[in-house]
Amino acid sequence: MAKTMIAYYSWSGITAAVVRQVQRVIGGELVELSVAPGTFSADMNQTSEIAQRQIATDTLPELTNPLPPLDAKTIVVLAGPVWSDAPSTPVRQFLRQVAGSSATFAPLYTDAGSGKHYEESLRALAPNLAFVPGLEVTGSAADATIQSWWDCVLAAK
Ligand SMILES: Cc1cc2nc3c(=O)[nH]c(=O)nc-3n(C[C@H](O)[C@H](O)[C@H](O)COP(=O)(O)O)c2cc1C
Repeated sequence: MAKTMIAYYSWSGITAAVVRQVQRVIGGELVELSVAPGTFSADMNQTSEIAQRQIATDTLPELTNPLPPLDAKTIVVLAGPVWSDAPSTPVRQFLRQVAGSSATFAPLYTDAGSGKHYEESLRALAPNLAFVPGLEVTGSAADATIQSWWDCVLAAK
């Protein structure tokens, strides 16, 4: 029996709200990816600049909470916002920490409508992880949309 973990980062609360809905629909354990207070700004443009700098200088923010163990039977719903059409830096840090894991990763990403290259970017960052097709949520998603995506994830695993 697969175990589901919903790991998420949320800067402004949208992904956090979506994963609570996802948990209601598919079950699983919610694990927030936290960073130290003050890591980002309350301003979107400044946050974008901070994140670009973290990437350019290879100083991804540390995650401040421990991650539960993953094994080959775990399906990790990896959720977070789209930043510059790519994963946010806390999600990038998570990918580093789980490098070499034999779990299955199902991306879920929230955006304002332009996240076309997000999954491609995620896969390129962690070429050794097993990804299944993800779900893009722009604004909100119906329970039925989440359920049919999850049926595809289980079929693809
Ligand atoms: C730094 C930054 C960069 C963003 N870049 C994009 C983007 O490239 N495309 C897009 O559609 N939305 C972009 N957004 C909007 C967020 O992806 C969107 O509001 C998301 O749902 C926020 O989720 P959160 O509240 O969980 O952080 C960006 C937001 C921030 C803060």
